[in-house]
Amino acid sequence: MRHRRLLQTLAGLIKARRLATLTPKWSCLTRTMNLHDKYERPLRDLRISVTDRCNFRCPYCMPAEIFNERYRFLPKPHLLTFEEITRLTRIIVRLGALKLRLTGGEPLLRQDIETLVAMLDAIEGVDDLAMTTNAFLLPQKIDALKDAGLKRLTISLDTLDDDVFRLMNGGRSGVDKVLAGIYAAEDAGFSPLKINAVVQRGVNDHTLVGLARFFKERGHILRFIEYMDVGNMNGWKMDEVVSAAEIVETINSEIPLSPVAGNYFGEVARRYLYADGEGEIGLISSVTQPFCGACTRMRLSPEGQIFTCLFAIEGTSLRDPLRVGATDEELEAIIRATWGDRIDRYSEIRSSLTQDLRDRRKKVEMYHIGG
Ligand code: GTP
Ligand code: 5AD
Ligand code: SF4
Ligand code: SF4
Repeated sequence: MRHRRLLQTLAGLIKARRLATLTPKWSCLTRTMNLHDKYERPLRDLRISVTDRCNFRCPYCMPAEIFNERYRFLPKPHLLTFEEITRLTRIIVRLGALKLRLTGGEPLLRQDIETLVAMLDAIEGVDDLAMTTNAFLLPQKIDALKDAGLKRLTISLDTLDDDVFRLMNGGRSGVDKVLAGIYAAEDAGFSPLKINAVVQRGVNDHTLVGLARFFKERGHILRFIEYMDVGNMNGWKMDEVVSAAEIVETINSEIPLSPVAGNYFGEVARRYLYADGEGEIGLISSVTQPFCGACTRMRLSPEGQIFTCLFAIEGTSLRDPLRVGATDEELEAIIRATWGDRIDRYSEIRSSLTQDLRDRRKKVEMYHIGG
């Protein structure tokens, strides 16, 4: 396996060297706008996972019985350094990515994460710099993140019911800790926040209206996420999915809603405004209404692989060529080739796969590439 990887890397390097001789040098170019995949989808977003560790154990992402004290997370030398992340990001931004999002695992567990934020903020051509976090460590980090140039925050919170929440994070936190993070973010001027809530039938689906009222009141944008079959560890079953349509119906029956157009091409959430004009919610319906047709997201894993789909089977290593001395042009050629060959549309084909085929497909895990 390792042998095959090495061969692939070498082949990639040689191919990259060959391509580099054909590609114009970029010294005079700031951005190359024409990178499209096989379905003509442009590269627009880069989601950077900075660690595979998390202080929560949400059963739908990192079930505690698997991620226990015996679980081997990536050793530090395997992680990309901040300099390596910044170098790769600069190349990917030149290839068209405008939006950057830091994820994990839990990104605030990466030591001195604010230093990386500042380094990424300094890259020319970055329009947006956001982070998705569980907020547990936010009160102690928020000022440093703000000063470093972080623009937007998305916070995960599945319910306001403390017992249900503990069930949904493996007993690692009460709701109060996450709310403390949210209040700290508000005080630091991050507003509106986006709040991500995964909905699981029979677990938190009876608490959705309470969550909606709370965040409507505070002026934040709550997004309900359909429970997804990411990775192979969460034992996903279709009957645990509450469809976006059902969620909208539930909220609408208590607080009337009206659908509204998206903010930009490729937006993941379908937006609904509250009919009284005070606020909005979003529905992320990867299972019942897939959005692969407009998927512009590339993902960079903590150990330097790029993935072209949340449900990918494997990634392409940039760290290996980078650490044996590849030039920026060679790395660019690998990224171009990877995006150029992209045919991913897993959410659109999910329903055509049998349960057996879905179970046998060895997919990357969510905690590894950050949602
Ligand atoms: P904005 O830039 O604020 O629009 O962010 P976003 O909508 O990309 O938000 P975020 O990164 O928080 O994504 C919300 C959630 O949607 C993720 O945590 C995933 O669960 C899901 N999601 C995001 N991108 C994809 C994707 O490409 N495919 C699938 N299936 N789900 C995705
Ligand atoms: N299905 C849907 N959303 C998930 N998340 C993690 N695992 C899943 C899953 N299986 C969400 C988290 C967080 C974001 C990074 O992804 O709750 O908000
Ligand atoms: Fe951690 Fe987020 Fe995964 Fe929960 S969903 S275990 S908070 S990375
Ligand atoms: Fe993009 Fe893959 Fe999600 Fe489809 S399933 S939207 S291709 S990440």
